[in-house]
Amino acid sequence: MSADQPSRVRARVDYDLIAHQYDRQPYRQKQVDPNLPPFLAQRQQPLSALSLLDMGCGTGSQLAAHRPLVPGADLVGLDLFQGMLRQALPKSNQIHWVQGDNAAPPFPDCSFDFISNQFSFHHVRDQRAMIQAVFRLLRPNGRFVMANICPRRMPEWIYYHYFPDAYAVDLQDFMPLPDLAALLQLVGFVDVQLDFTDIDESLDLREFLASIHDRQHCSQLIAMSDTQFRSGVQRIVQDIEAAGGEPVFGPSRVCLMNLRADKP
Ligand SMILES: C[S@@+](CC[C@H](N)C(=O)[O-])C[C@H]1O[C@@H](n2cnc3c(N)ncnc32)[C@H](O)[C@@H]1O
Repeated sequence: MSADQPSRVRARVDYDLIAHQYDRQPYRQKQVDPNLPPFLAQRQQPLSALSLLDMGCGTGSQLAAHRPLVPGADLVGLDLFQGMLRQALPKSNQIHWVQGDNAAPPFPDCSFDFISNQFSFHHVRDQRAMIQAVFRLLRPNGRFVMANICPRRMPEWIYYHYFPDAYAVDLQDFMPLPDLAALLQLVGFVDVQLDFTDIDESLDLREFLASIHDRQHCSQLIAMSDTQFRSGVQRIVQDIEAAGGEPVFGPSRVCLMNLRADKP
């Protein structure tokens, strides 16, 4: 793990503060990225000749899940926060863990065949610079994949319902998808594809209230002020009290996006 500059980079959330508990949330476990097997199947060269980069790799679970699939390949995880990389380190000593900013990744041109970026793009302050860097880092015929939530397609998310300030912050931090697609094409990517998956659920408000008392489990809750957080909690308490002891459920919907773009 190399450590250099990034304390200068402004961040939406200080992940060093929550790194030790990041993996406790079951939904943070990773399987093989469904984009990877079809990419590998298309390639002619031996797997050991490939280089994969995960930008904003966090605690490294995605690369650790990929490790057995690409024996001999070069795997690199980049993250701004050393605390997250410290959690990643024990997961594999056959992955290079590098500290740095996604907007200024410390690698030469044409270093990687496959670059992934999961649930991290909205944290990057200079998103345009990051997309330019991804294109620079990919080899010809390389592929960029991104996963994230889509705030504009899920205003009914229970977090946004009770914490409208979180929605406002996300509208600023998440680049509109048409703008992102246009930017990818502008820097030279082709075959830009976007898929969406909607997940509808109905949450017991008492359980939801209990879960958010650990405010650290969700960056939307961390990114708002204490006053805004308390106001949201108050709104939940009022709805529970209004139900007068009856079970009360809050409808919720999450929209996940999967983006894919190729370097010619
Ligand atoms: C929600 S976590 C996602 C981590 C991992 N990709 C995952 O899916 O579990 C966001 C990650 O982005 C990282 N991050 C935030 N700003 C960054 C930046 N400018 N450059 C690199 N990583 C950054 C954080 O440290 C954190 O690990």
